Amino acid sequence: MRAKLIDGKAIAESLREEVKQSVDERLSKGLPVPGLATVIVGDNPASRVYVRMKHKACEEVGILSIGHELPANAKQAQVEDLVRKLNADPKIHGILVQLPLPAGLDEESVLNTISLQKDVDGFHPINIGRLAQKGREPLFVPATPSGVMTLLEHTGVKLEGANAVVLGRSNIVGMPVSLLLVSANATVTICHSRTKDLPGIIREADILVAAVGIPEYVKGDWIKPGAIVIDVGVNRVEDDTLKRGYRLVGDVDFEEAGEVAGAITPVPGGVGPMTIATLLQNTLRAARLADGNG
Ligand code: GUN
Repeated sequence: MRAKLIDGKAIAESLREEVKQSVDERLSKGLPVPGLATVIVGDNPASRVYVRMKHKACEEVGILSIGHELPANAKQAQVEDLVRKLNADPKIHGILVQLPLPAGLDEESVLNTISLQKDVDGFHPINIGRLAQKGREPLFVPATPSGVMTLLEHTGVKLEGANAVVLGRSNIVGMPVSLLLVSANATVTICHSRTKDLPGIIREADILVAAVGIPEYVKGDWIKPGAIVIDVGVNRVEDDTLKRGYRLVGDVDFEEAGEVAGAITPVPGGVGPMTIATLLQNTLRAARLADGNG
């Protein structure tokens, strides 16, 4: 392994400690405890795991978190009524509707219902629209893309003028991370399933953000020597040698890429912990906005 390991777990831990201190300070000043409401619709097992982790992280830093669950056959109006109720609840500063929603629900309409000031996921169309426009700032930046940018900052890589390749164009990661890289003056290429000569394009990348959801898809000989590799993928692959029967791998072949890259994130322990730490930061910010201190 030649590449430096980007230790997302340790970086996230120090961000969480900062949030905890800020929450303690709020309490000592008599300000309200920051409150996060989560909404899960249906029983997607991965969503349940992620939301459970978010609640646990809130508890550790002193943020109040309240979970809401609706059945998979919930109607559009039921989901949006719950969001409106949370918009009006003064104890709740941030609202997170876990995605994906079950088929048949209009995701855009649900996200549009979340109050802008409580949109800690940054997925409200106005927040995303502001992210895409020069000279405008969203109130909240989506957690995973923001976590990716924090990891890049920690490597010390110069983003200005760098060739950044983003593999994947999802609303949750690929597209917003591309917008953040453009804002940081990188030259950004967005690749997806119809891209021709993917290895050739990735070989030009000083920075690669892989968010395609295919286990160990990116091979070592696609990586430019010395490149910074941020692997957002979390994929289960069968592994009978483990009691639980599977292991987690990223979208990048870690062993191969680690021989070529300058720095690389592990999976797990890279981007994942940053997503949660950033959500905590966003919830704290939402509480400050409610105090009148943006
Ligand atoms: N599904 C996968 N990642 C996320 C996230 O960051 N926020 C929400 N709400 N749903 C997700």
